[in-house]
Amino acid sequence: PGIVPYVNEPFTDFSQPENIRAMEAALSKVKAELGREYPLYIGPNTIVTDAKITSINPGNVSEVIGYVSKADQALAEQAMQAALQTFETWKRVPAHERAGYLFKAAALMRERKHEFSALMILEAGKNYVEADVDTAEAIDFMEFYAREMIRLSETNERQPLVKIPGEDNKLTYIPLGVGIVIPPWNFPLAICVGMTTAAIVSGNTVLLKPASTTPVIAHKFVALMREVGLPDGVINFVPGSGAEVGDYLTTHPKTRFISFTGSKEVGLRINRLAAETAPGQIWIKRVVAEMGGKDGVIVDETADLDAAAAAIVASAFGFQGQKCSAGSRAIVVEQVYEQVVEKVLALTAALRVGLPEQNGQVGPVIDETSYNRILAYIEIGKQEGTLLAGGGKVDGNGYYIQPTVFGDVSGKARIMQEEIFGPVLTIAKAKDWQEAIAIYNDTEFGLTGSYFSTSEERIAAALELVHCGNLYINRKCTGALVGVHPFGGFNMSGTDSKAGGYDYLLLFTQAKLTSRKS
Ligand code: NAD
Ligand code: ALA
Repeated sequence: PGIVPYVNEPFTDFSQPENIRAMEAALSKVKAELGREYPLYIGPNTIVTDAKITSINPGNVSEVIGYVSKADQALAEQAMQAALQTFETWKRVPAHERAGYLFKAAALMRERKHEFSALMILEAGKNYVEADVDTAEAIDFMEFYAREMIRLSETNERQPLVKIPGEDNKLTYIPLGVGIVIPPWNFPLAICVGMTTAAIVSGNTVLLKPASTTPVIAHKFVALMREVGLPDGVINFVPGSGAEVGDYLTTHPKTRFISFTGSKEVGLRINRLAAETAPGQIWIKRVVAEMGGKDGVIVDETADLDAAAAAIVASAFGFQGQKCSAGSRAIVVEQVYEQVVEKVLALTAALRVGLPEQNGQVGPVIDETSYNRILAYIEIGKQEGTLLAGGGKVDGNGYYIQPTVFGDVSGKARIMQEEIFGPVLTIAKAKDWQEAIAIYNDTEFGLTGSYFSTSEERIAAALELVHCGNLYINRKCTGALVGVHPFGGFNMSGTDSKAGGYDYLLLFTQAKLTSRKS
């Protein structure tokens, strides 16, 4: 009662000059705050360490975003103890009260929307639209999970129990314990907020270890939760090295669950380490691991080719191809292959590479490691296919790479199989739509896919045959909306947790059945 139904946060229309001006004002405000120091939060303590993570602007590498204190194993242990202690009280806080913190934080984030987006423009290299969408998704996650927790606690509509005479039976979803939350940098606000708030609204306490390239935006979120009065120790903020702090916490006997989003390599490592039982551990750790993708857009000869080409380019190059959902492959039926390639190249040629704060359509990639990895893949691509566009660096004081397109690539090529996570599109030719689907399915991943066709028969077949967690028909394969398109992948793309869906909070709870004789 009193809670309005969930709706998605609207996106800002940047064709309106006043919205551009508002974002520029937010950028000026955030720029004036660059270079500050940010502490750790462990229980009631604010801790500043000598060791720091230096966060820089990938689009202008001389600009420091901030210096973030860095946890080591001793501080991680302190954070674990704080989280364990707080769990004893937090788990008893009624669900609607826990949800209340998320509603308040969502409202404040909405008020300061452009400020959050501006920080991501500077710290992650997002353009205005990409940053705005990220902030909107963060707001959505809080609004959605808050309502979900209330629903989960107040109704039994999720799993109505069969009634028998003489008994009063109830299923209650109770929290698990202390969780380790490890988000990636590519949706540095949305995914960080979604993973963290889902865990805490369910009654758990967490240690949040943000990605080391985007710790300042993660700090801004944690500061917001403190501002709305979230009790100390519910979110413990412990930036640090994945290998040092991550492994320590993954193997810790008191860790009850690990919520991870990131690469396949790290996800598999966490899954393996978490499967070992440490001395004193009395449970099987739960691992929620959402990992990489080699997503793709399939186009058959009946498709609207202009719409398909636009979707291919948007899916491949949005945020420089650094989305788990990025359409890094296009698989086109040979009858229309040349036409589609021509349209894709025309749209790619029109993309403007530039500084994110000036709203360049294509910005930098996140850091030097990514930059070198992507450039190395481009060299591999030159051996494996025909370079049709781009193929190298772009001048600038940052990690800029040309939107790059390879054609005539075999389905088995490395650039068709491995996640590059940059602005590189590979296009393969299929003899017919069935072969196109077979090529799409022939990877170890299974996150997002699109099928373009006007044939109802083929669409029906594609819906069944294309094997991925999020399959879209006649639209791009990026841009899942909370509540509308629950998100998660198959196979090596992860545990298919379906973030932003009705099943997600079940991953952070355990169901307790109580039966009372009446
Ligand atoms: P990453 O695996 O390098 O890092 C992810 C997080 O894990 C970071 O916070 C990192 O510090 C931490 N980490 C590293 N080593 C660790 C260890 N040994 N123990 C614990 N934590 C450790 O990934 P990334 O570069 O941040 O993100 C990009 C990847 O994330 C891509 O593969 C992308 O597809 C994937 N991703 C998947 C989804 C999804 O929903 N499936 C969403 C976004 C990103
Ligand atoms: N929500 C993001 C997308 O679908 C991951 O692109």
